[in-house]
Amino acid sequence: MKNPSFKTALLLVIAFALGTSCKNKAEKKQTADMATETTVDNEEMYRPNFHFTPKKGWMNDPNGLFYYNGYYHLYFQHNPDDNKWGPMHWGHATSTDLITWKEQPIALYPDELGTIFSGSAVVDIDNTTGFSQKEKTPVVAMYTNHDMEAEKAGKIVDEVQSIAYSLDEGLTFTKYEGNPVVKNPGIPDFRDPKVDWDEERGQWVMVLAAGQEIKFYASKDLKDWELLSVFGEGIGNHDGVWECPDLFPLPVKGTDEQKWVLLVSINPGGPNTGSATQYFIGDFDGKTFKIDESFQKELEKEHRFWVDFGRDNYAGVTWSNARTADGSKLFIGWMSNWLYANVVPTEQWRSANTIARELSLIKGDDTYRLVSLPVKQLKNYRGKKVADTDISIAGKTVLTTTQTISLSQTEINFEIPNASIGKYTFSLSNSKGDALKFGYDTIENKFFVDRGQSGQTGFSEKFSDRIAKAPRLSNAKNWTGKIILDKTSIELFYDDGQTVMTEIFFPNAPFESLSLESDTDTFTLNKLEIHQLNFN
Ligand code: FRU
Repeated sequence: MKNPSFKTALLLVIAFALGTSCKNKAEKKQTADMATETTVDNEEMYRPNFHFTPKKGWMNDPNGLFYYNGYYHLYFQHNPDDNKWGPMHWGHATSTDLITWKEQPIALYPDELGTIFSGSAVVDIDNTTGFSQKEKTPVVAMYTNHDMEAEKAGKIVDEVQSIAYSLDEGLTFTKYEGNPVVKNPGIPDFRDPKVDWDEERGQWVMVLAAGQEIKFYASKDLKDWELLSVFGEGIGNHDGVWECPDLFPLPVKGTDEQKWVLLVSINPGGPNTGSATQYFIGDFDGKTFKIDESFQKELEKEHRFWVDFGRDNYAGVTWSNARTADGSKLFIGWMSNWLYANVVPTEQWRSANTIARELSLIKGDDTYRLVSLPVKQLKNYRGKKVADTDISIAGKTVLTTTQTISLSQTEINFEIPNASIGKYTFSLSNSKGDALKFGYDTIENKFFVDRGQSGQTGFSEKFSDRIAKAPRLSNAKNWTGKIILDKTSIELFYDDGQTVMTEIFFPNAPFESLSLESDTDTFTLNKLEIHQLNFN
């Protein structure tokens, strides 16, 4: 079955959420007036303590991630003049450690070819483009131009790919006069170029989402592109449009092997409805991506290959020109979901990003698996700590409260030995009666997040129409987890990052207490470590 194009799907989502289209001016004005009336409380209450948000306006996908000269650059899909998706620009932020971000001036504005959709950026160290002047190293951004005028006129939009270069390390860009560099071959959803340098072959390789497939291209100069191959028909999840691909090699931990990872975001079709990012593991020979046989076998049995099983990690991609000491790639995602992103209860700004993460590969009994953990730099922010061992949990047991330590800028590490009795439930709660519940159901062998009673949920029925679930992928006897808490988000990294769940929430007051219980028996929590994270 052919799925609706991005344009149709997005308009449907917006129209559903608002009960009408928000595109006409009067309505926009009303939204703006409402914003000034209701904003201050939500503003203070819901802007994260440490996850990146734009100061003002709308944000979706991370774009153009590159590292150069001590700075990590993060661009993002940005509508600076409204708190809803609209004419896309590239906003910009920089960081020296991937945790604390400084917003910079807007880097790319819409032009005569259209608005600026998602894309990537590379450092052209060898000046393959010839864009260098006065010995300055060019940073080259490649993005999709989307023609909003054609869209408004109800015409089919021919999305095309363009480039722009920066000679001041990513602060300002000049659009290439030969744009577009990749024309549209007659495919309505044709976007999100992700470029990287293919070391082995000495070529630029670009992956592009085209309908429900990924196209692979190569270039020597980032201007002339040759179509190499196509991947995806009949493979993986096809319940929605494929978007925001990424392709990179990773070492397989504990071996001499290297495998290539292809990330593909899909909307809708996520494991817990809406937007999510699937991945494929295989080999890339400079032309074709061939899925690994063992991976294919597992995928056919059951599709459990999601970067994150939670509802709020979409369109994530990796930094170019950067790896960790052990060869991991650095990743960040947009912490929302197209099901409700346009109507979450913030006004001046909308959406945050996930914490930056390290992606690595492990090989289990069956096949390879992508694991992710927060970047190590987060440890540098640890302050006050509560730690205990061998805690006996009999009935609902309070582990800590905000009288002792903050629960909205927090890292929690725990270990439960022989996790096998019934259902373990953690609860974050406040005096208003809100509770966010999450844990592990050992009978189903699934993790869960229940945000049904977590505070404001009525802005969209899709926000809490079900309990999010994720398979436990590790066979380890002991269950370990790392929990990253901000005011409006939880990021759960279970079993050393083998199963990850990211979810947002909007409590009526900050959560004050963290408790744990099992529905069947008493048990021992053999490690609990709570770190307050300090950002000033
Ligand atoms: C993903 C996406 C991309 C597109 C961008 C538009 O969320 O739909 O495919 O380039 O958002 O803002």
